[in-house]
Amino acid sequence: MNQGNGQKVGAVLVVGGGVGGMQASLDLAEAGYKVYLVERGPSIGGVMAQLDKTFPTNDCAMCTLAPRMVDCGGHLNIEKLTYSEIESIEGTAGNFSVRIRKKARSVDPDKCTGCGECVEHCLVKNIVYLDQPGRAPVQIEESVRTKADRIIGRYDGDRETVVPILQDITDEFNWLPPDVLMRVSQEKQIPLEHILRIATFYKAFSLKPRGKHIVTVCMGTACHVKGAPRIMDRLERELGIKTGETTSDMRFTLESVRCIGCCGLSPVITIGDDLYGKVNPVEAAAILDKYQD
Ligand code: FES
Repeated sequence: MNQGNGQKVGAVLVVGGGVGGMQASLDLAEAGYKVYLVERGPSIGGVMAQLDKTFPTNDCAMCTLAPRMVDCGGHLNIEKLTYSEIESIEGTAGNFSVRIRKKARSVDPDKCTGCGECVEHCLVKNIVYLDQPGRAPVQIEESVRTKADRIIGRYDGDRETVVPILQDITDEFNWLPPDVLMRVSQEKQIPLEHILRIATFYKAFSLKPRGKHIVTVCMGTACHVKGAPRIMDRLERELGIKTGETTSDMRFTLESVRCIGCCGLSPVITIGDDLYGKVNPVEAAAILDKYQD
């Protein structure tokens, strides 16, 4: 607020550390106010960092976001309260009291360099699944276990073998069955947490059963403007499923992807390893017939 002499006093609370919250904080801080910036997540920045380009100017999202994060991070008039949530607000205009709950970070922010080593060595999460007291032993069918053990037996070493093992499991089962992942964890003495982190990072791996044929529609910009959404609609109707789902006969799984690097052939769909370019919705539906074996 302004005192009679024009001097600014008091403080302002900004809720949300996304690009809007950061810009508001910077404007207020530059105007001379003390700013408390409350953000529920562990860092300011919001979801904009997940974008590539921004509409309508096609500016790079990070180029918009990064300078504001740096300015906000170093501004002496802005107190960042990350990993925090508002519990209550009391008072009247110009005189509010706000109660904020700050969640435990379990790391010392003054010493943290962001190297990620603590995740690798976390004593809570990095416990081999089967070693956890009270857990029932893994139930796994004999035939599945034989296949899993054959795959596991192909690889020496531990953590560095997870990706090829998961690739082989995907080739064998078309997805990553949980009991097989637990078997890998048990046999290789690799924390299930570590295996799941890799399994959920790569789009090639799935923790849900997938169909025999993976139908992918490219929804990247080039394909989008050439009619990819209409192809997706047609395939959804043809297969009777939505994107991300699998037909009940486990024959087809329908997925979307962001640019597969063949923009000159847009719009593009793939079925397994086969690529089809410059297709229209009718042709895309007809292509499915080839895989109705
Ligand atoms: S946008 Fe579809 S292949 Fe590039």
